[in-house]
Amino acid sequence: MSVKRERFSGEPASVAKMDSLVGRKILRFDAVESTNDTAKELLGGDADEGTVIVAERQVAGKGRHVRAWFSPPGGLYCSVVLKPDDKNVSMLNLISGMPVVKALRHWSVLATLKWPNDVVFRNRKIGGILCEGVYRHDAFWVVAGIGVNTNTPLDRLPTEVRGTATSLKAEAEIEVSNEEFLEYMLRDFDKVYKASQSSARNVLARDYMALCSTIRQRVVVETPQGTVRGTAIEVTSQGALVLVDETGKRVEVEDGSVRPA
Ligand code: BTN
Repeated sequence: MSVKRERFSGEPASVAKMDSLVGRKILRFDAVESTNDTAKELLGGDADEGTVIVAERQVAGKGRHVRAWFSPPGGLYCSVVLKPDDKNVSMLNLISGMPVVKALRHWSVLATLKWPNDVVFRNRKIGGILCEGVYRHDAFWVVAGIGVNTNTPLDRLPTEVRGTATSLKAEAEIEVSNEEFLEYMLRDFDKVYKASQSSARNVLARDYMALCSTIRQRVVVETPQGTVRGTAIEVTSQGALVLVDETGKRVEVEDGSVRPA
């Protein structure tokens, strides 16, 4: 009988690399609490810009708005370490979802983004992004955490999320290796990240909108400041969602949870 040693952070089970900035070092762990937390622990040391932390499973995966992200084996859980220029940070939260959508489409699942960065297919969640900003010795870093239900056994998810979740395996009826999916996704991440740090950043809001199914929908947005209703018309170059409310007034929302009106 072979016994597989589990590691909660500590030493990675393996190290790999790609020939791009994003993915130049890929640290694979069997199990961690949260790949975002491991990335933050290793920042500036073993994890420099472009390093990716991947785990087979997470025991304390985190979602947006202090929710849990259930992370059984089969799903893809990773965090990308970024060191953006201060003035080019605002779109990172949104654009981190674009490579996930592109990779799912590559394997024939026509996913879209629900603003800001829920990855959905037929109103079911298939992936999510948690971006966290961190200061270390006066340098600003962003850890972009990505969770994708690639081969997630949906019956292992808690009942409260099972009805609203789906997976690549369930939709495409194929099993894509997480390694292959990750590599495809990171190649695209490298392109959008570099664009976000260059003059090409000006077209990112347009590229994002092309993948975002919230645009043109009548929606209700729960924001920290209250509830806003209206039709979503665009995303600004700073990543805010623009609604036209019932009185015809233009309202910009910087953060919130969107649902159909
Ligand atoms: C959400 O939609 O609420 C965001 C989910 C983000 C989950 C990923 S899985 C990898 C990374 N590590 C975490 O603890 N969370 C993110």
